[in-house]
Amino acid sequence: MSERVCLITGASRGIGAATARELAARGYGVVVNHRDSANAAESVADGVRAAGGEALVVQADVTDPDAVTRLVDTTLSHWGRLDVLVHNAMAPFPVTSFADLSWEQLGAKLDQEMHAAYLLTHAVLPGMIDRRDGRLIYLSTGLSRRPRAGMIALGVAKAALDSFVRYVATEVAPHGITANVVAPSTVEDTAVGDRLPDELREQLAADTPMGRLARPEDVARTVASFAGDDAGFTTGSWAPVNGGALML
Ligand SMILES: NC(=O)c1ccc[n+]([C@@H]2O[C@H](COP(=O)([O-])OP(=O)(O)OC[C@H]3O[C@@H](n4cnc5c(N)ncnc54)[C@H](OP(=O)(O)O)[C@@H]3O)[C@@H](O)[C@H]2O)c1
Repeated sequence: MSERVCLITGASRGIGAATARELAARGYGVVVNHRDSANAAESVADGVRAAGGEALVVQADVTDPDAVTRLVDTTLSHWGRLDVLVHNAMAPFPVTSFADLSWEQLGAKLDQEMHAAYLLTHAVLPGMIDRRDGRLIYLSTGLSRRPRAGMIALGVAKAALDSFVRYVATEVAPHGITANVVAPSTVEDTAVGDRLPDELREQLAADTPMGRLARPEDVARTVASFAGDDAGFTTGSWAPVNGGALML
């Protein structure tokens, strides 16, 4: 059995799937969470096992309190521990100007993003506090700090998440637990990245000093660095993964 266990929400594709593969390759037992895409999640887990790792697939809607309780309970009964949470699942959001944005659309995005972060953080913390060790890692975006037309709902919800993480980090630090944000720019081979018009994708790559968009594996490696011992004294941080596209 793996010595350390990581729960990755929304790991059936994109950044979550890459993170599951990366952490499994580094020896973590990984929980591959999904909501609807059972076949895709099973295929991520099969890939992990074929590479010699350990994976458990757990279906759960991370905005549903009972489902989150079941997700964490299933993890603990299977592995006996939970060392790392990666809050990654992508809540849907409208792409629209502020002028055309209804309160219902903005409120729904804020609610889903923050409800999931709140529920998961509450659910995993008691075990981490007992063991005086734990890693909380949250996926945000550079759009929480630098606006782009149409991305107001996503940017505002992730800015709330960024602030939430700093408060959580402050509160859990005395228990030996870290909480950090990983903030990619546009990531290719993801639903969001693939939905962008070719022209915009090319422009974003050209505006990036390293000359390309991020890849899911770039993000996964940064997440993995926060999960490990090397980042043990880093907390409350906001780590860009953007090839220099946004320097703060
Ligand atoms: N892609 C980008 O360019 C980009 C850039 C910056 C930041 N990010 C952030 O990185 C994270 C991952 O993005 P991504 O592009 O890799 O996402 P994605 O490809 O759209 O995948 C979304 C994942 O979330 C799961 N999911 C959605 N709603 C869920 C729910 N309520 N409960 C459980 N799982 C749920 C999906 O599972 P099912 O299919 O089973 O529903 C899927 O596994 C997000 O937080 C996103 O904001 C992405």
